[in-house]
Amino acid sequence: MPVITCIEDLRRIYERRAPRMFYDYAESGSWTEQTFRENTSDFSDIYLRQRVAVDMSGRSTASQMIGQDVAMPVALAPVGLTGMQAADGEIKAARAAEKFGVPFTLSTMSICSIEDVAENTSKPFWMQVYTLKDDDFMQRLFDRAKAAKCSAAMITVDLQVMGQRHKDLKNGLSAPPKLTAKSLANMMTKVQWGLGMLGTKRRFFGNIVGHAKGVTDPSSLTTWTAEAFDPALDWDRIRQFRKMWEGPLIIKGILDPRDAVEALNVGADAIIVSNHGGRQLDGALSAIRALPAIMDAVGDKIEVHLDSGIRSGQDVLKALAMGAKGTYIGRAFVYGLGAMGEAGVTKALEVIHNELDVSMALCGRRDVTTLDRDILMIPKGFEGDWQ
Ligand code: GLV
Repeated sequence: MPVITCIEDLRRIYERRAPRMFYDYAESGSWTEQTFRENTSDFSDIYLRQRVAVDMSGRSTASQMIGQDVAMPVALAPVGLTGMQAADGEIKAARAAEKFGVPFTLSTMSICSIEDVAENTSKPFWMQVYTLKDDDFMQRLFDRAKAAKCSAAMITVDLQVMGQRHKDLKNGLSAPPKLTAKSLANMMTKVQWGLGMLGTKRRFFGNIVGHAKGVTDPSSLTTWTAEAFDPALDWDRIRQFRKMWEGPLIIKGILDPRDAVEALNVGADAIIVSNHGGRQLDGALSAIRALPAIMDAVGDKIEVHLDSGIRSGQDVLKALAMGAKGTYIGRAFVYGLGAMGEAGVTKALEVIHNELDVSMALCGRRDVTTLDRDILMIPKGFEGDWQ
């Protein structure tokens, strides 16, 4: 077994072990992938300020997200088709998260259903909700999440229409995969993955098949998002969803301060500054660059979280020091899952935890809940001065 020291190690193993179609699905942004790239590269424009000879003992990464205790403020983001990266992937990732003490968020576009994940885990998870036109489906989705004892709902607001990811079209992405000469030839070389998939019944979009009406090809993400998602979504509609769900509500996909204010007015408990991992509006600002303006607009009124671009504990540290109360990893845990199943997700969390803890110490701090910009060196103009 190779020695794994960073998230990039997991990505490399994942690339070898997962079918190309699913690797490409995770490792893509939309169109030119500018935003996808800048989500990570913008983090490296911010420097950490080293301090020495300060007491670095007795450190803590424990915090809270939406009032719930977390071992570190790093939740698992909702990632579609996680159960195609490894058999029963959502259950494996949820188990790793609960053992580590961080939240797991189940995507509407998951392979394992809400009920499946609830039956196979012992702590509440968070449910991500896509906004479909079908009211019955939506009410049932919230009811199913409640019955499964989910401790938060997360409405994604940045995917009314889907950004194009070229490789998914070229690969004919679907769940289960369609058996073409090309996809078969590739899958035959992924022995561990294939054995896992043969051993599970969970190969379809578990929350959709048998639940959503009027979808002609429920195995194709592109088809069913185009047919079922609501391009007319507005804040009034989101207010209706707020009424369908009594528990804590997180709104994901905010990049503009005006939308942050709207989310606040809807009665959300937290917002996630996110550009969907660079998978939606290509050419949008990276999440970390969008964060300061949003903090200024609503930071003292609502909990602000951030995803998109986090691949290390140093990235987490920077986001927290800029005011985010919580962060999310998507690809970073998927790499672990595709590389080594549940143990790989645990490994990804351990890597990030260690990086966060040690980097925080080397900045002269001991507690993630009291970080501030003083530990950062942010270049002038980082936030942008736009006309
Ligand atoms: C779905 O959320 C996707 O980004 O593919």
